[in-house]
Amino acid sequence: MPGLTIGDTVPNLQVQTTHGNFNLHGYFSASWTILFSHPGDFTPVCTTELGKMAKYSEEFKKRGVKLLGLSCDDLTSHKEWIKDIEAYTPGAKVDYPIISDPTRDIIKQLNMVDPSEKDPNGSQLPSRALHIVGPDYTIKLSFLYPATTGRNMEEVVRVLDSLQKSSKYKVATPADWKPGEPVVISPNVSNKEAKAMFPQGYQTVDLPSKKEYLRFTKLDS
Ligand code: BEZ
Repeated sequence: MPGLTIGDTVPNLQVQTTHGNFNLHGYFSASWTILFSHPGDFTPVCTTELGKMAKYSEEFKKRGVKLLGLSCDDLTSHKEWIKDIEAYTPGAKVDYPIISDPTRDIIKQLNMVDPSEKDPNGSQLPSRALHIVGPDYTIKLSFLYPATTGRNMEEVVRVLDSLQKSSKYKVATPADWKPGEPVVISPNVSNKEAKAMFPQGYQTVDLPSKKEYLRFTKLDS
């Protein structure tokens, strides 16, 4: 599907939100940001997702990550809906802004349109899209879920940890990796470079091909 994808710069759109009007780059302000959309206010799955996102707010802050939600309904509706979200998820404080997009212009430009969901007036609705935006304003990772499947916030934190690790070191994270577990050294790092880059050492897996490409190392932080 054409549209904004990983590697692209997020357009610097002017948005109206529950925390006032601003442009996206001003809000990102060279931090990591999670920009996530929802089909609509006062819908069941979205209510659970926004509450969970709020519950993880401290985890995101610890990692220097900002949150920015989006649902097309108007700001009065968002503010009323937040009361339901916080009531449903005890301890959740929706302290991040939520964009309103009555014209659907923002969801089109951010590649967040659901191809099948429509509101009662036949207007387009957002999918459950989630873009992780890096400090350089480019998209590092995108999830695209249908309205019927709520997202897993542990997975959001996990992939964020992976992205932040690989932005700092020449490493990648293997299948089912969790923070604290060994990472793999990027294939474009030679063994000679790896010895200098990872003084803690690394283990090469002996494979039938005898090609030394699966190298694990442990990072402290
Ligand atoms: C929901 O958030 O529960 C939802 C929204 C649109 C379609 C289906 C489910």
